[in-house]
Amino acid sequence: MVLMALALAACSGAGETRTRAVPSGDPERGLRIMNEVGCGSCHAIPGIDWPQGRVGPPLSGMGGRALIGSGLPNRPETLIPYLMNAPVADPGSAMPPMPISEEEARDIAAYLYEH
Ligand code: HEC
Repeated sequence: MVLMALALAACSGAGETRTRAVPSGDPERGLRIMNEVGCGSCHAIPGIDWPQGRVGPPLSGMGGRALIGSGLPNRPETLIPYLMNAPVADPGSAMPPMPISEEEARDIAAYLYEH
C-alpha cells in the first residue's frame, strides 16, 4: 500500500515530466536506430510519424513513468537491458528481443527519457 502511494506520487509529481535521464546516451542516434530497427511497427513513438504500431504501448512520456513492463522500476539500469532483451529482463514480456547493442539501447533510452 505504501509502495502504491509512492508510485502514485511519482506519477503526479507536480508537472515534472523529465524525472529520468541518460546523460551518456546520444538521443539523436537513438531516434535513428529506432527507425532502422522498426520499433515503430509495434509502438507509437514521438518523432516517428510512420509507422505507429499498436502492438505495444505508446512510448511518449517515458521519463515520467514510474514502472515499465510488468512492473519493473523505470530506471536506466532496468530500461536499457529491457530494450535489448525484454523476455529476459521481464519474463513473460510480449516484446521480442531486439538486435541492438548496449550502446544503442543507451542512446534509445536517452531519447525516450527526453520525449
Ligand atoms: C514485435 C513488436 C515490438 C517491437 C518490434 C518492439 N516492441 Fe517494445 N514492446 C512491445 C510490447 C508488446 C510491449 C509490452 C510488453 C509488456 O508489457 O509485457 C513492449 C514494451 C516496450 C517498452 C515498455 C513500455 C512500458 O511503459 O512498459 C518499451 C520502453 C519498449 N517496448 C520500447 C521498444 C523499442 C525502443 C523498440 C525498438 C528497439 C521496441 N520496443 C520494439 C512490442 C514490441
